[in-house]
Amino acid sequence: MTDRLKSLEWKNNVLYLLDQRKLPQKQEYLACTDYKEAAQAIRTLAVRGAPAIGITAAYAMVLAVLAFTARGLSGESLRHAFYAAGEVLEQARPTAVNLSWAVREMEKTFDSAEDDKRCETLTRRAMAMEEEDKQLCHSMAVHGADLFSGKKNLTILTHCNTGTLATAGTGTALGVIRELFRRGQLSAVYADETRPVLQGARLTASELRKEGIPSILICDDMAALVMKTKKIDAIIVGADRIAANGDTANKIGTYGLAILAAYHHIPLYVAAPFSTFDFSIPSGNHIVIEERNPDEIRYVGNTQIAPADMPVFNPAFDITPHTLISGIITERGVISHPDKDSVANYERSISHG
Ligand code: MRU
Repeated sequence: MTDRLKSLEWKNNVLYLLDQRKLPQKQEYLACTDYKEAAQAIRTLAVRGAPAIGITAAYAMVLAVLAFTARGLSGESLRHAFYAAGEVLEQARPTAVNLSWAVREMEKTFDSAEDDKRCETLTRRAMAMEEEDKQLCHSMAVHGADLFSGKKNLTILTHCNTGTLATAGTGTALGVIRELFRRGQLSAVYADETRPVLQGARLTASELRKEGIPSILICDDMAALVMKTKKIDAIIVGADRIAANGDTANKIGTYGLAILAAYHHIPLYVAAPFSTFDFSIPSGNHIVIEERNPDEIRYVGNTQIAPADMPVFNPAFDITPHTLISGIITERGVISHPDKDSVANYERSISHG
């Protein structure tokens, strides 16, 4: 992992976040000592990607408990302040369920910890979450790459950023792509630039170039032509929330790619760990889609590209219906043609350990 871009690091009770807004021009870390700084980093996309924001929230809750106990809070007032901090973090972004999952885990840990070991226990839980995410990425990479066993010279298209910058490990979709490269089966990756925030151009392209993975950057509106003319073997993307029937929220543009993929008879795979599933909602209709600042569309970087008062619609995610998904690559294997029964089987396999 040493030569890879790392999204976050916890050292001596400080949470260091690689400021992804500045990539690829600058590699700068934000040093967060206050949970509110971490919440702001999530809100402003200094750190982003579903698993990475979950782990960030977990460490932010450690920062919160350290600060509250240093201020002399204890008992019910400490618990109240801790839960309030969790709410601030959870509300930083609404779509990725990994964020609320991580907050719930930390609340459970808080409630079961002994009073005098609380900070230590919470720190250990956040570190375990980070470590677990590395393992999950590894397992998804293996299961995802196994889908293509025996095939050579693969050309894969991906969207947004799902790599080391979006997780604690090698990534979800990008982890699978890395594994295919490692196995010598990859010919090229087409990376969508991913308007409006350009996670594909700024982040995925940086990760791929740094590791010498053969890759080509395209504008989002080129995907149809690329599918028609470039022998795309599969599209692999990540996810922010997966409903109980397999409907998947992911970066805006994924739904369009799924429709194009169906037309061109190209399989579309979603790679995501258990913490991205929301078994409590029956379908994608129940997923809240974050709408972001209109200036993300009116500006590219600091350059204004539209009238300042131009009305804008800026949803950060869309929902791909499960019927357009060939398979969900999880840490336990691939859910082929996901629907409510196959997702329920997966849920059972998790609860049985
Ligand atoms: O708005 P972002 O950059 O947080 O969106 C990220 C995505 O949509 C990713 O595809 C998703 O979080 C999966 S990341 C492993």
